[in-house]
Amino acid sequence: MFLNFRKIRRCQRVQLLTMCLVLSLMMVCWEQLDQSVVNHVKSYSYRYLDNRFTFIKESFTIPQEEAMSFSNYRYLLDHRDKCTNQDVLLLLFVKTSPENTKRRKAIRSTWGNESYIRQTLRADVKVVFVLGAPGTTPEGPSGTKPAGPSATKSHRAIIQDELVREDQLNGDLIQQDFTDTFHNLTLKLIQQFHWAHTRCPHARFVMTADDDIFVHMPNLVIYLRDMARRDVTDFWIGRVHRGAPPIRNKDSKYYVPYEMYPWSTYPDYTAGAGYVVSRDVAEKIYQATLKLNASIYIDDVFMGICAHSMGVSPQEHVYFSGEGKAPYHVCIYDEMMTSHGHIEDIYELWKVATDPRVKQRTSGFLGRLYCTAAKLALLCKPYHFNTYPCKGAFA
Ligand SMILES: *[C@@H]1O[C@H](CO)[C@@H](O)[C@H](O)[C@H]1NC(C)=O
Ligand SMILES: *[C@@H]1O[C@H](CO)[C@@H](O)[C@H](O)[C@H]1NC(C)=O
Ligand SMILES: *[C@@H]1O[C@H](CO)[C@@H](O)[C@H](O)[C@H]1NC(C)=O
Repeated sequence: MFLNFRKIRRCQRVQLLTMCLVLSLMMVCWEQLDQSVVNHVKSYSYRYLDNRFTFIKESFTIPQEEAMSFSNYRYLLDHRDKCTNQDVLLLLFVKTSPENTKRRKAIRSTWGNESYIRQTLRADVKVVFVLGAPGTTPEGPSGTKPAGPSATKSHRAIIQDELVREDQLNGDLIQQDFTDTFHNLTLKLIQQFHWAHTRCPHARFVMTADDDIFVHMPNLVIYLRDMARRDVTDFWIGRVHRGAPPIRNKDSKYYVPYEMYPWSTYPDYTAGAGYVVSRDVAEKIYQATLKLNASIYIDDVFMGICAHSMGVSPQEHVYFSGEGKAPYHVCIYDEMMTSHGHIEDIYELWKVATDPRVKQRTSGFLGRLYCTAAKLALLCKPYHFNTYPCKGAFA
């Protein structure tokens, strides 16, 4: 009897101690918990229980003259006739920065090679690079700080001269006169939809992509042709972020203050790494940019706000990646659309992913069986994030 009693007491002591430990842990980690759990719970309840976002449209609407201030930058480089008299299937904007010359070169000689696409895939795809003006100080890893005001001026001029030369050679840079920085990405988004509206309104689809993604052009062309045949409208496809909360941590690159966006969740949007819209959606986004306050500097979120205000919502395609990099595997190459984070390996990936043997190895009953098993192993590992979702194995 006595022994039993002590046992219970010990049990309770352990319980009490554990509770204290958990509580103090929670107190210590509250900030973290608030960021990653509470924020998401709040945002999910907003997204799934309320889901009206009516305030957003109202409070983002501004007079047209003021909205114009986000778009009336002068073109430094432009190609007015890029699309004229052509039956363009896809107008593909690559968001790039003045310094990323190497990335542009790699894209031109791999997935963004227009003449390859025309000859081999028999499709008209226009690949243009959108960028702003070089800043006064070098950005990126290779930059060295200039010495004084005159040096900064010349840095800017040197980069711009190089861009002009690059454009004379390739004819594919679309540049506006705003400083090319992370916090000006929304201006770059507006630049794209305005350019599409004025210079290429007949393109069947419009795509936006980062300059460090890989696009499996043959797969994408086949897919978009099929969508065109079905006459899709209201089409916006990519990796969808649903019920994403604004990040309130000041150290984050994606920090957004309450004054800029007071609600607990963003309207659904696709990851900026790469997404496609149909012609009608591109026009609607253009119309939205004529009325909305574009001072929120996360471009894909602003895209979500524009689309929401026009009644367009995004759809998920499992083989469009968000931040993630696709596993290297034939069965993935057979289905992939985009994959993020490719710089050095882009030439090699282009070669292996478009090799005709990929189709041979993945077709037929055995090939499909093998690929289902391989994709299950690659995509459905627990604690494995950032690549394609597990359901890609069954798609
Ligand atoms: C693009 O493709 C064409 C045809 O396949 C090829 O002749 C050309 O060299 C390629 N361009 C680049 C920059 O690799
Ligand atoms: C965006 O570009 C404008 C125009 O060049 C410039 O004045 C502004 O400082 C830039 N904003 C940011 C956050 O870099
Ligand atoms: C746009 O929003 C910002 C805050 O995000 C605000 O400071 C600015 O006044 C707004 N512009 C207009 C024209 O309402």
